[in-house]
Amino acid sequence: MVREREPGSIVIVGSLNADLTVQTARFPQPGETVSGGDLTVLPGGKGANQAVAAARLGGKVRMIGAVGDDSNGDLLLRSLTRAGVDTSQVEIKTGLPTGTAVILVDETGENIIVVSPGANGALSPADVTAGMFVGASGVGLCLEIPVKTVMRAAVMAKQAGATVLTNLSPYQAVPGELLDNTDILLVNEHEAAQLGEHRVARTIITRGEAGATVIEDDSPPVDIPAISVETVDTTGCGDAFMGAVLQQLAAGASLVAAARYAAGVGAFAATRRGAQASYPDAARMNSFLAGHS
Ligand code: RIB
Repeated sequence: MVREREPGSIVIVGSLNADLTVQTARFPQPGETVSGGDLTVLPGGKGANQAVAAARLGGKVRMIGAVGDDSNGDLLLRSLTRAGVDTSQVEIKTGLPTGTAVILVDETGENIIVVSPGANGALSPADVTAGMFVGASGVGLCLEIPVKTVMRAAVMAKQAGATVLTNLSPYQAVPGELLDNTDILLVNEHEAAQLGEHRVARTIITRGEAGATVIEDDSPPVDIPAISVETVDTTGCGDAFMGAVLQQLAAGASLVAAARYAAGVGAFAATRRGAQASYPDAARMNSFLAGHS
């Protein structure tokens, strides 16, 4: 972990969802009904998760996104604020519901997620302005908001001199222009396979329990082993990984060192229920890593 200099600031442009989650012994088959535990409503959404993860670890983070004028929106803004994220540029879209994710988690900690975008789907390119990226050292993007908005954010962030980290999740084919304006791509192995020929010079491929691989054009790929834990809930582990990479890069770490630390953060998150609810602060991470070295 790098702590020697004043960290740069991080901007996340992405989604905010209320995660409506039920634990169940096993997932139902199509047409089948199974019983589960109590419904929980927890703060989630890939963008907000990344922002909270980075802020809890010590990053200076600003969130760009949208919620509805409802209690789920309040829940999400509270969670971001409690983590220290600047929410002054999260728009409240009157008349639209806050995004929601319906999540099942089985007894192995695996999940199935369906997202209803709500206000996230109304975050338009016009909502993203050049001034939002002034002074940002790193910008995090994901695909839970309209791709046109993601593209505009990538172009503006690049012009502002920030390092753009794009997570192609949930996966969809994206215009080459988005990848051209991405400095670091974060994909899982299925997304990497779907991506085909188009490459970004610096790429992290996450492989779940098999760890991650960091690819940088001029050096051989580096495999990062996973930390083995008792998995309770994998929801938001990838977002914790991304938030940690952004925080570590902003603090001056190399991409390999950032990914190594992030693998620990993702593993920690799998040992607790929920997404943001499972993210550690830096002190917790230090003792977790000390116990797994
Ligand atoms: O990556 C996990 C997230 O995906 C959840 O928090 C849910 O909101 C969906 O966006």
